[in-house]
Amino acid sequence: MKIEEYLSSLPSSIISGEDVELSDDTLREIFRFAEMTGNDIFYHLGCGSGNSIAIASQEFGVKSAIGIDNNKEKISHGKKLLDEKKIINGSIRHQDIIDTDITDASVILFWFSDEKIIEKMILKFQSLRPGCKIITIWGPLTGCMPNKIDFPYILNITPFKKAESLRDQMLAIFDTDCIDFAVAWEYADRYSKAIGSRNFENDRFLTILQTLVIWINAKNLGIACGDEIPEPVKSYMGILKTFFNIEVEHLLDH
Ligand SMILES: C[S@@+](CC[C@H](N)C(=O)[O-])C[C@H]1O[C@@H](n2cnc3c(N)ncnc32)[C@H](O)[C@@H]1O
Repeated sequence: MKIEEYLSSLPSSIISGEDVELSDDTLREIFRFAEMTGNDIFYHLGCGSGNSIAIASQEFGVKSAIGIDNNKEKISHGKKLLDEKKIINGSIRHQDIIDTDITDASVILFWFSDEKIIEKMILKFQSLRPGCKIITIWGPLTGCMPNKIDFPYILNITPFKKAESLRDQMLAIFDTDCIDFAVAWEYADRYSKAIGSRNFENDRFLTILQTLVIWINAKNLGIACGDEIPEPVKSYMGILKTFFNIEVEHLLDH
């Protein structure tokens, strides 16, 4: 079966990643990456159960930390957490991120892959004060050149620099002239470690799929190293096909 069919056979919550929560260690890595300090007003858009708000307040001493989520259950869990930890400079709001007021933000964590939401939020981010840091995961904001990268974490700082092409964005993220199998694997592995379940077998499967996605995108954009399909890419395509009945080769532009 083609990979698209495989993906559509999974539960929708897995595809949307709705219930994927970043681990506390990943959140700390992200806050260090963004160089968050006591002067910052931090927003986590889609904050889930609110751990980020507790960590930003207690460990990074931000001026204030605000979590926004439209899921009632997660919000009530988050509010309870902040009460238990007696956090006074943190709060959680039950709102749609599209409607929420973020005008005082200096650092925003924004991990969304829905293009419609991203499009609307970019317009909102563009009116924020200069120097506001928007952290995204895996890719920069659509059409923008990233300002700082520690893959999979990406910093987009207002006012945004326009990217000339997807190719330029990709080369900036991968910090290389061309993408070979080793680069694709390393970046896929970093992503699995950042968002993974700490379940080794699932992580390895995710890394294989992401490696192939990165390499195939690079090839289609003309930034893969060499003209041939590298042997390890062929092998992993074969493994997916033989052992998992998942076919990805058709994604290559011929
Ligand atoms: C942070 S997002 C991550 C989603 C996914 N991993 C991705 O890459 O798009 C998940 C959280 O956002 C929340 N959420 C989703 N859409 C939202 C919206 N429009 N407004 C507020 N919260 C939202 C969900 O309830 C969930 O807790």
